[in-house]
Amino acid sequence: MGSYLDELKVQMGEKKQEPAASPVTEAKTEAKTEAKTDAKTINLNELRSNVSQTSTEPKLDSLKDMFSSKMNQTQESDSLSSKLEKKEDAKAIDVLLAGWERNGKLVTKYGESEIYRIEGDSLMYYKANIPKSSPSQKMIITTLKEATTRLITTDPYKIRDPIQRQNIYYQKILEILENAPEINVPKHLFSFYAKAVVTEMVGFGLLDPLIHDTKLEEIMIIGPNKPTYVYHKDYGMMYTNVVYYNDSEIQDLVDKIARILGRRVDISSPLLDARLPDGSRVNATIPPASIDGSTVTIRKFRDDPYTVVDLINFKTVNLEVAAFLWCAVEGFGAKPANIIISGGTGSGKTTLLNVLANFTPDDSRVITIEDTAELKLPIKHTIRFEGRPPGLEGGGEITLEILVKNTLRMRPDRVIVGEIRSAEATTLFTAMNTGHDGCMGTIHANSARETLVRITSPPMDVPMLMLAGLDLILVQKRLNTAKGQVRRITEIAEIDGVFENKPVANIIFKWNPQTDTLERTNQPIKYFELIKTYTRYNDSEIADILTKRIKLIKELVDNNIRDINDVSKRIQDSYIKDKQR
Ligand SMILES: Nc1ncnc2c1ncn2[C@@H]1O[C@H](COP(=O)(O)OP(=O)(O)OP(=O)(O)O)[C@@H](O)[C@H]1O
Ligand SMILES: [Mg+2]
Repeated sequence: MGSYLDELKVQMGEKKQEPAASPVTEAKTEAKTEAKTDAKTINLNELRSNVSQTSTEPKLDSLKDMFSSKMNQTQESDSLSSKLEKKEDAKAIDVLLAGWERNGKLVTKYGESEIYRIEGDSLMYYKANIPKSSPSQKMIITTLKEATTRLITTDPYKIRDPIQRQNIYYQKILEILENAPEINVPKHLFSFYAKAVVTEMVGFGLLDPLIHDTKLEEIMIIGPNKPTYVYHKDYGMMYTNVVYYNDSEIQDLVDKIARILGRRVDISSPLLDARLPDGSRVNATIPPASIDGSTVTIRKFRDDPYTVVDLINFKTVNLEVAAFLWCAVEGFGAKPANIIISGGTGSGKTTLLNVLANFTPDDSRVITIEDTAELKLPIKHTIRFEGRPPGLEGGGEITLEILVKNTLRMRPDRVIVGEIRSAEATTLFTAMNTGHDGCMGTIHANSARETLVRITSPPMDVPMLMLAGLDLILVQKRLNTAKGQVRRITEIAEIDGVFENKPVANIIFKWNPQTDTLERTNQPIKYFELIKTYTRYNDSEIADILTKRIKLIKELVDNNIRDINDVSKRIQDSYIKDKQR
């Protein structure tokens, strides 16, 4: 099988051919004579014996033992993955990357990354600074990893502070290196090895530089011997120099992610959809589900979420529409709108939902329900729920529908459902129709009309009559333009009854691609009429409130006040001022 062990054998063979090159080959072969007295000695002895292996077959046995449990775990999928591990593919990909680096045109450089344009290719190339280790160095790293795992019994992710976590591991590895001179790692390479082991153990190895680059929105591993792709904020989809040469390397990563999350991915359950401790969303698949090899997709979580100020700077929305949406979410102190945000994959639905939810007054009781918790709201009184898929025995599932039902028994002021997909839709629409205002959620659809069709068709199956409870549909799109990729709200619609048994969407704002502006159509805004029935406001007073909010947002944009907490404070302060007037 093309597993780790085979690879190690190959590496050992290579080592034989280049005797003076690596610290391992310099290491003296040492018989395992020391008595195993305590845990620490045992570990160090094992470490020594493993590292001081030469290429002779019998001595590989101890390595075999060391990795046997791991091999058993992945045995079944390995037989599939071995088909994928073609040496020619590995060579071909290296040649391809080298060509891109040699012939590509350097477009920009920041941090430790370089971006190249590749002649005749529509995608650009992202070169991360990833240390390439030789096969023998890889073996030392692996052995050090094993030794460290045995010496540190705490699960790395239980040490919450990532810096502290890294430091603890770093120090431990230095200690191992110092106490095991037989490994024969020269002192000046201690930090190289310590860093390499730390990134593999408490980070995500090769992916680390990609994870740390805040300009990358998504990281996509698509199988062995293929470049890992990234979605760059400015350049869209790109190739990278991060390559996994064996499917088992990707599966190791998947196993690690699953372990952190207390889940399991194997042949009987080859799909994983979850949230990493840092809030990033991750999806992983292994063969036989993904037939060309294992995949990992990471939607990176922004520590510093976008706010309305960012959306205006990106031109996703203009000042007028931002103020209109603010009023709709707040509800003129009377009737917060029920809002659905639609769009395609990665169009920015969740981000827009988060931005809008931040207009909720702080005196509201907000309940959020998501499959994977992504929302980040600085509103004081927020309760967050996360659904759960069924366990291995098929039990323990917590569906969004159950959570929405439960939420309605909790006297919420606002119910926010991250992504509405099936039966929870009817529960949410029932809530909208029974006096729960300020419900919000997202749906995968490409236009307001398509949104209505999806809501009223299986599996959502919301009865047509219930659509009356919905006030606004916002459609957002990710568009490729001459300026690169941009995200725009392209439609804002209201429901205008049912015609010939089909719900009618009334478009009140529409994006004009010629001028790149979101323009007001000549359709009246029903929501304002509704507000007039709930409040004492007339048209000019509604216009005054809108103007006041336009001014406030403009002030934030002009002064570059964009941090979520600062923006939220200004919004909440304005409510307090209004109340005390
Ligand atoms: N208006 C915007 N301008 C620029 N980037 C944005 C904008 N909105 C979101 N993004 C970025 O786009 C990526 C996708 O955003 P988000 O997760 O909100 O999309 P989504 O539509 O909810 O995706 P999915 O369909 O996968 O749930 C994120 O990295 C986010 O930071
Ligand atoms: Mg989303």
